[in-house]
Amino acid sequence: MTQPHVEFPEHRSLGTVAMQWHGNRLELLDQRLLPNEEVWLTLDSASGVATCIRDMVVRGAPAIGISAAYGVALAARQATGEHWALSIEAAIKELAESRPTAVNLFWALNLMQKALFECRTPEAAVLRLAEAAIRIHEDDINANLTMAEHALAVMEEDSPFSVLTHCNTGALATGGYGTALGVIRRLHEAGRLRQVYADETRPWLQGSRLTAWELMRDNIPVTLNTDGAAACILAQGHVKWVIVGADRITANGDVANKIGTYSLAILARHHKVRFMVVAPFSTLDMSLSSGQSILIEERDGTEVREIRGHALAPEGVEVFNPVFDITPAALIDVIVTERGVVRNPCATGMKTLFED
Ligand code: MRU
Repeated sequence: MTQPHVEFPEHRSLGTVAMQWHGNRLELLDQRLLPNEEVWLTLDSASGVATCIRDMVVRGAPAIGISAAYGVALAARQATGEHWALSIEAAIKELAESRPTAVNLFWALNLMQKALFECRTPEAAVLRLAEAAIRIHEDDINANLTMAEHALAVMEEDSPFSVLTHCNTGALATGGYGTALGVIRRLHEAGRLRQVYADETRPWLQGSRLTAWELMRDNIPVTLNTDGAAACILAQGHVKWVIVGADRITANGDVANKIGTYSLAILARHHKVRFMVVAPFSTLDMSLSSGQSILIEERDGTEVREIRGHALAPEGVEVFNPVFDITPAALIDVIVTERGVVRNPCATGMKTLFED
């Protein structure tokens, strides 16, 4: 019997996208192959989605959460028999084990678990869980658009200025448009952007492979730089804001983001360049009092020793490869969310934002 399905509304697409939901399958753009090849993978199971998250086919905190939600919707389509709900819960557990740092993953799975509790039959779950995943996806796009407006209101510069960003926080890392890159997109649309400097972002090169690709597709002026060049770029004085995303923000305003963000925040403070973190509410983790408690993912040393199978270091050399770091709230000028901004973040400001 053909199962009914719910599709993602076509009109919500905003150009470049990382994922497409077709009601009975999820398609993910394989971000490991960009910018050389644009290959779409078709997934029909939660296990397949979990593997794609773990292996970085899809990455970026919001995109991980949204894909996982679609993974749960796919699990519902395969859940039959007396234990149908337990099999969906097993899928939620498997997805939760894919990557540890981005809280958006657990936030989205929590919403999917709540939606599952409302379902009395497997047929109801097929529709309800697809609707819940689409809602998460649509809400993320809306959040990005709203955050961009809030961020522009914070930046008071009259004439066009340059910004520097790290990793990829664009359409590829989100439901569409982007967090920090959404702000940059909006600055460009408003005629207020002079130039984007994009850190290449070792070792996965999200900056050179993904951010430069996204910005060039949209004709936004981008200059690529090695991570080590950030200090001398900031010293030149053209960059007024460093704008980054986040994987988890704790109750005191500490931010976990791509490795290298912390050093960038120190550089920004030294050069009197302002430092903005842009992230949706789904990135807030008010259960943790500070960044010290965030579990930082460490990935295999091969990612540093090699690039696409080519050795860059002596075989077997010891490698330390944490893929996120913690930027203390004291180094951040403003955190922008869709529900408002927190200037000079601290526990009080975060609590006010959360409770309002
Ligand atoms: O390892 P990744 O590519 O998933 O890391 C991505 C980042 O650190 C991003 O800056 C963060 O997730 C925000 S994306 C809007």
